[in-house]
Amino acid sequence: MFGKIASRNFSSTASTAYKVAVLGAGGGIGQPLSLLLKLNHKVTDLALYDIKGAPGVAADVSHVPTNSTVKGYNPDQIKEALTGSDVIVIPAGVPRKPGMSRDDLFNTNASIVRDLAKAAAEYSPNAALLIISNPVNSTVPIVAEVLKEKGVYNPKKLFGVTTLDVLRASRFVSEVAGTNPVNEKVTVVGGHSGVTIIPLLSQTVHKSLPTDKRDALVHRIQFGGDEVVKAKDGAGSATLSMAQAGARFASSVLDGLAGERDVIECTFVDSPLFKDEGVEFFSSKVTLGVDGVEKVHGLGELSDYEEGLVKEAKDTLIKNIKKGTDFAKQNP
Ligand code: NAD
Ligand code: LMR
Repeated sequence: MFGKIASRNFSSTASTAYKVAVLGAGGGIGQPLSLLLKLNHKVTDLALYDIKGAPGVAADVSHVPTNSTVKGYNPDQIKEALTGSDVIVIPAGVPRKPGMSRDDLFNTNASIVRDLAKAAAEYSPNAALLIISNPVNSTVPIVAEVLKEKGVYNPKKLFGVTTLDVLRASRFVSEVAGTNPVNEKVTVVGGHSGVTIIPLLSQTVHKSLPTDKRDALVHRIQFGGDEVVKAKDGAGSATLSMAQAGARFASSVLDGLAGERDVIECTFVDSPLFKDEGVEFFSSKVTLGVDGVEKVHGLGELSDYEEGLVKEAKDTLIKNIKKGTDFAKQNP
């Protein structure tokens, strides 16, 4: 049995080699995310960067017997960490404490993300950038603005990671319906905070839930992050489930880059869906391909209730996006 496990770990199905960098690798998300990326056979070079602790995490993760190199980098080595990266995942920044909104993180995280985006623009301008740092609805526009300023913005390669909302939707729906979450596929659109998180339950087999149950379920998906923040009682927010979500999304991006077909994830991207209404970024189903975003899918048929949620989300998103864009323009 041991031999079987060992040989499975060593047998790589990857047809191409990929360098993935994690910025914020020493943190609550960064550490388990780095471990999960080490287990991904498409990742052949894992670069772990943080302002503190990355070499230790790298030494630890590097003992996992998969066919990749792992290296840790300190703040003076960001160039080496980023150079040649195909995918850069960014969970750097502070998490919430009870009573805080994601937007309350803006003042601290905006400049962290801006500076990391500048480094990415300089040292790895062709990489796909996967933004986890909150508030995602604003940090993604910050990155876009930095890249535009540097002349290297590629909207097909900038992603806000909203996969945790999708995982929560599967899990919470299954708890209500008494089903296996593995089989519950829920499209979640909009953004990544409160009312901007919109699970499209009408597109699942659970479309006929009684109104009170539906409302409670949607509310739980929208505010699932608060459950973890409250339970951790000052020690941070979701890290382990987020690591799983980040690893899944990064894996899908790599699958797309490798030319696999029909790779679809919900993600917050530069989106044509509501641009004419002033919403520059929106999360919806996206097909991932060799150049990043291959197709931004429409929302499909919505119930009247969901139409209302989307309308409300657009107003909040416009403000969140503007806040990020203005910050980047005023604090270059
Ligand atoms: P954490 O405090 O445990 O870890 C953050 C790490 O970032 C630390 O190791 C810190 O040293 C590092 N860091 C800070 N400034 C940096 C910089 N300039 N360069 C590189 N590294 C830097 O926090 P966490 O729990 O891992 O959460 C990180 C972020 O992810 C938070 O903003 C949180 O709100 C967000 N988050 C997003 C989602 C999502 O669904 N997108 C889910 C959970 C958490
Ligand atoms: C989450 O959804 O768990 C994250 O955005 C972290 C948070 O602040 O809730």
